Parts: sequence; structure tokens; C-alpha cells
Amino acid sequence: MTVRHVMEIDDLGVDGLDAVLSLAARPARDAGRPLEDSGVALVFEKPSARTRNSSEMAVAALGGHPVYIQGAEVGIDVRETAEDVARTLACFHRIICARVNDHGTLERMAGALDEASVEVPVVNLLSDKAHPCQALADLLTLRQVFGSKGARARPLAYIGDANNVWRSLAIAASMAGIPTRIASPDGYGPTPEDLKLIASFGGSIETTADPGAAASGAGALYTDVWTSMGQEDERAERMAAFAGFQIDEALLDVAAPDAVVMHCLPAHRGEEISAGVVDGPRSVVWRQAANRMHAMRGLLAWLVSDQAADGGAR
Ligand code: CP
Ligand code: NVA
Repeated sequence: MTVRHVMEIDDLGVDGLDAVLSLAARPARDAGRPLEDSGVALVFEKPSARTRNSSEMAVAALGGHPVYIQGAEVGIDVRETAEDVARTLACFHRIICARVNDHGTLERMAGALDEASVEVPVVNLLSDKAHPCQALADLLTLRQVFGSKGARARPLAYIGDANNVWRSLAIAASMAGIPTRIASPDGYGPTPEDLKLIASFGGSIETTADPGAAASGAGALYTDVWTSMGQEDERAERMAAFAGFQIDEALLDVAAPDAVVMHCLPAHRGEEISAGVVDGPRSVVWRQAANRMHAMRGLLAWLVSDQAADGGAR
């Protein structure tokens, strides 16, 4: 059997992504108890409201036992190596989920388990590079609002930093056939490697430094904080660089008449998004938040199913 680690959304494969979203869309009562008698480790090196709570509740809904572990408790690379933390948690848990400062930590944890032929998947609950569980909830939300076909017909415009949330979202959208755009200031946009990976799934991606151009006629406007966790020292320069990149009422006016507004949260009203927009009638941010749990239930159920093993590994 091959274990499927989920470092980034493309680790699911196109069919896997579709399967996870289908499982996520099922009523919780139909999910059964595939995690009965199993533990799931939830390690957090950074704070979390949505990811921690949605993950705990998803594990419980599948009959499993979630164990929330603060980063300092296990002390990755402080108390013992990331590899030893992974080997230890795998003694007790069927799945290891972790939110880490450095994406490489997840790779090392997964690598240590693979090397030892320990069949426990590692799931990324946010790293500096990727946030695949958020992208699952975002795609689920777009499917609910517009339908699968409708979502593919509407450009998704991301306004802001080409960060972890954007990267997973853009890859996921490309895998699902949803065209995307990104408007970001100079120095904060996608790398050529990002664009190559996104395009490799066949979806279209347009880049611009003009928020109005990105938003024009778009079916969804999406943003995230300008200063991510771990970048606090850069806050002043980022605030200056991103001036003019707020999703506000004027920007929403140029989007499609039925456009929705998305944000992974936490939101900073008056910075990347105006209060009127995030709290307004076209905002779907609370639906996104609620979908984090459904998406996680779908992902965990898929990971312990035979389907995850089919189709190979990373
Ligand atoms: N969107 C998201 O991941 O929220 P938390 O940081 O609160 O988990
Ligand atoms: N980009 C943000 C997302 C928080 C959910 C961060 O990494 O802090």
C-alpha cells in the first residue's frame, strides 16, 4: 500500500480532489465511522481558530479521537527532531496533521515515515507555502454557490499577496478547471515556478498589478491578510506595498453582478477588505469557514479509504 501525504493540494491528484469534494458534500450522517478506534494527531506550531476546530470536529464525526498538540509540547527540532516527532506520533495515530512554520518540516516528517515504511499520512494544516485544507473548503464553497459547471465559467480573482492560501487555491482551481487571476503589487506576486505548476493542470491564470483589471467581470473576489503569520517584522513595509489592493465596495462594483466575496479568515477590516464588503450580502466567508469542517471530513475519510492508495503517491 502507498501512503498519500497531503503537503499541497496537488498531492490529491485531479481525481482525488474531485473524490474528496464529493465526500465533503455528503451529509455527515452518511460518512460512517471510518476512524473508529483511531487517533488523529493535530499539531499546531502557529495559532488557529478554524483549522483546529474544524479538524477536531471532523475527526470526531468520523468516529476517531483527535489529540490537539501545541507546538511547544512536542518541540519540533527543539525537544527532538521533526523525524522523531513523526515516528513517535505514528505509534499512536492513524493520521498526523500539522500546522508548521517551515514547509520543510512536513516534508521531513513524511519522509521519515516513508523511509521507515510506516503507513501514516501527514496532512498540511498550513505551512509558509501551502494551505490545502483551506483550498478544499474554498472549492466546496464555489461548487455550492455556482455549481461545478458554473464555477468553471466564472473567473476567480485573488487580490493581494501570492501567499500560502493563494498558492493552494490557485493550484486547486486549475485542477478543477476554474480560471483564476491574481492582482498583486510588485515583489509580492507569483513566482515563475508557481505559474508553471498552476498552468500544468490546464487552468488559465492571469497576473496583473491592477486590482480593477483582475476584478472586472469576475465571479468571485478573494483576499487574505497582507502579513501572514511569521511575517510580522515586515508589517509596515507590507502595509505600504499593498495600499490600493483592498477589496472594497468600488472594486466589488466592477465584478460580475452575481459575484461573491471570499476570505479564508482571519480578516483585518479596513486593510485587505472593507468592513462593508466582508460583512455584506455578497460575502460567503462564513460559509467558507463552516465548509472547513465538511472539507476536512471528506479529506480524512478519503485518506483512510482504498481510493487514496489507488493512483500512487508523491
Ligand atoms: N483560515 C484558517 O486557516 O483559519 P485559522 O488560522 O484560524 O485556522
Ligand atoms: N496567509 C495566512 C493565512 C491564515 C489562515 C497566514 O499564513 O497567516
